[in-house]
Amino acid sequence: MSMKIVTIIGARPQFVKATTVSRELKKRGLTEILIHTGQHFDKNMSQIFFEDLGIPEPHYNLHISGGSHADMTARMLTGIEEILITEQPDWVLIYGDTNSTLAGALAAAKLHIPIAHVESGLRSYNMRMPEEVNRIVADRISSLCFCPSEIAVQNLKNEGITKGVHNVGDVMYDAALLFSNDQFEKSSALTQLNLKSGTYALATCHRAENTDDKQRLENILSALDEIASHMKVIFPLHPRTRKYIDTYNFSHYLKNVVVTEPLSYVDMLWLEKNAKVIITDSGGMQKEAFFFKVPCVTIRDETEWVETVEMGANVLVGTLKEKIIKHSLHPPTTSWSCHNVYGNGQASGQIADILMRSAEKCAA
Ligand code: UD1
Repeated sequence: MSMKIVTIIGARPQFVKATTVSRELKKRGLTEILIHTGQHFDKNMSQIFFEDLGIPEPHYNLHISGGSHADMTARMLTGIEEILITEQPDWVLIYGDTNSTLAGALAAAKLHIPIAHVESGLRSYNMRMPEEVNRIVADRISSLCFCPSEIAVQNLKNEGITKGVHNVGDVMYDAALLFSNDQFEKSSALTQLNLKSGTYALATCHRAENTDDKQRLENILSALDEIASHMKVIFPLHPRTRKYIDTYNFSHYLKNVVVTEPLSYVDMLWLEKNAKVIITDSGGMQKEAFFFKVPCVTIRDETEWVETVEMGANVLVGTLKEKIIKHSLHPPTTSWSCHNVYGNGQASGQIADILMRSAEKCAA
């Protein structure tokens, strides 16, 4: 079957999400054209993921990053539109909720190219988050909505979106299974950081709502400083967070914290699996903590991954210093007996199958 799919990615978590789907598309002989918007561009935010995950060199790299949301999205729109006109794909495949997702969705919709959205139906119900705006728009104009969970399907239903909706499970679960099985021996992260399994906290923070707000960022950093007097705290630093720590002169909070550059995917998974507790505002890490049965303390007021909280594996603490400290030193406990609500590790194959079936239907 000749079918062409244009995939649009640009930010770190999208490289992870796209990798297992791309493999399944290839297995089925479907043609995939990869556009990297360039939103993430540092070697350890982008290239290292392509190398580690075996993602082929993108066919197009737009090198668009930085600027305001409108400016970045506008430049992406123009660049993506031009490529879509040249390539004339049958589908545009988008992932998650970043500005690259939004630009891809808008460009495709205006050219009447059907859109398939992976990680559809997530909601934080916080419209101040750029990600919430991006995902609502992307879901509304997609013809296929690939949801990671039943709650995501329900969220779409509440907004009147029921056509083309499929609960396939979470592609990040597929990736975590694939890359943890055979690749962990490749990671020397524990040795390099001189860590013993089950003794340290792994922390990340990059959400605009936490980094750009001086008070929230100070609360988080001073909590990490305090936690570091009880156990080692490993803190891979996102460029956005580094920028604001410099702007606000907060580096003194980090003198007892082990700060690293952003880590490769496999090193990150390995550090997650061996952590005593994960402290994060990342969506992906909340789930990876859950997959690896490591307790998670989420430094946000709400989460899209509500299942992890309902099952007692994750606790939402906001950014109150005392709360972050208390829950990190006494992390949530759960029996972990629950079945996996994020599918069975076959989400990517199901997505590829559904896309193929859609082409067969059109040909019939
Ligand atoms: C973006 C996504 C977010 C996702 C996150 C993963 C949006 C609105 N947000 O947030 O949903 O969870 O990626 O990391 O799309 N920068 C560098 N080097 C890089 C990448 C970024 O220096 O390789 C700088 C940028 O120039 C910018 C800042 O970091 O100043 C933030 O980057 P940006 O892409 O705007 O958003 P993220 O915070 O990474």
